[in-house]
Amino acid sequence: MKRPRLGINVDHVATLRQARGTDYPDPVAAALLVLQAGAEQVTIHLREDRRHIQDRDLAVLRKVVTGHLNLEMAATDEMVGIASQYKPHTSTLVPEKRKELTTEGGLDVCQGQKKIKKVVEKLKNEGIRVSLFIDPDLEQVRCSQDVGADAIEIHTGCYAEALGRIEQKREFVRIAKAAREGQEIGLEVAAGHGLHYKNVAPLLALSEIVEYNIGHSIIARAIFVGIEKAVREMKDVLAGGK
Ligand code: PXP
Repeated sequence: MKRPRLGINVDHVATLRQARGTDYPDPVAAALLVLQAGAEQVTIHLREDRRHIQDRDLAVLRKVVTGHLNLEMAATDEMVGIASQYKPHTSTLVPEKRKELTTEGGLDVCQGQKKIKKVVEKLKNEGIRVSLFIDPDLEQVRCSQDVGADAIEIHTGCYAEALGRIEQKREFVRIAKAAREGQEIGLEVAAGHGLHYKNVAPLLALSEIVEYNIGHSIIARAIFVGIEKAVREMKDVLAGGK
């Protein structure tokens, strides 16, 4: 079975920088190191409130990242303008609430179908691949196809936070069904949020998931073992080696 791609969310490096208003640690430096350690993609979320990643980070990353750059963004005119300017390889549309600690749920594509379709069209016209971050829900998967997305990223937050085996199994089944449906209707399927070295392992049985975007657990581990080792350890897990 082919090993899924690993995208690393380096927002958490920027969060540490913004906590002190310093110019370090630099998420751009982190991005280069994670690519050197074998990650296939760098993921950043330019939030409307700029709480971690800044416009400067995107501008520099776009110049220096040779691997795939995935820009998570809200479906707003401002963000579509920024994406059109910098042209990341992928734009992943995510819902955004100002007060949330992190992205709390998937995008309601069915509810916002008309607006999201327009945003998807604009981005695709700029040559940007478009992915939609959605809950593991069959209706959301089908609506994602209806609005013309190239890919979906399944929100794994509920799976990651599940209390006990029964709840985790239930969430696993939801993810499995959504991933299968996505693949069957021609969408590329990614997954992410709240995944760490242990809880990602059972998901590897789902061959439909071809990409994982993981940030917090890897950057947290990097504090103790260094970023390159932290990335390589996750790559080993994704290879089924540990
Ligand atoms: N994918 C998306 C769409 C996200 O919003 C996030 C969190 O920023 C991630 C993946 C990575 O989540 P985590 O940092 O919990 O690994």
